[in-house]
Amino acid sequence: KRIHILGISGSLRADSTNTIILKTLGSLLPSDTTFEIFEGLGEIEHFSPGLVDTEAVIRFKTAINQANAVVICTPEYAFGVPGTLKNALDWTVGSGDLNDKPVSAISASPLNSGGNNALASLLLTLTALGTQKNEASALSIPNVKGKIADGRVTDAHTLNELSVQCANLLGLIEA
Ligand code: FNR
Repeated sequence: KRIHILGISGSLRADSTNTIILKTLGSLLPSDTTFEIFEGLGEIEHFSPGLVDTEAVIRFKTAINQANAVVICTPEYAFGVPGTLKNALDWTVGSGDLNDKPVSAISASPLNSGGNNALASLLLTLTALGTQKNEASALSIPNVKGKIADGRVTDAHTLNELSVQCANLLGLIEA
């Protein structure tokens, strides 16, 4: 069976730099690997314990369960992860959809800091969710605006870092 990887962008913007990074990462995967970016994070209702999974939530969980691994690429809002992304992840706590799932966590920012606070927070959440990751499973991309052109990552160093994320993720899947 083919390896399938799910990308989740923490940004809902149409021309999101984080979504562009995910698309580029997807294009760097081996050709026998399928890649999909989840659409519909913004439709997921506010989580509260005891709520029954809605259609949007079921779509999200199904996408995770059908994937061998998940890559999350997120901006930083006010030193944290966007609420939309955290809300979606909170729905999976009780059902354990991300438990044992190999993950790659990426943050990108137009600032020098590369969204490091959001990345650290995301990694804590991914630890709480029982995901499979190692020291190489995280990447922060600073000054992202200058590394993208025509809807693609063009910076050679960043392209190499994304290839390393791909290889590490495929290694985690095989392990
Ligand atoms: C930001 N941005 C931002 N950047 C950062 O590095 N640290 C931060 O704390 C914040 N805070 C923040 C709050 C809000 C409300 C907005 C709208 C933006 C800037 C952010 O990194 C920038 O808008 C990115 O381009 C967003 O990513 P996408 O949408 O291009 O993927």
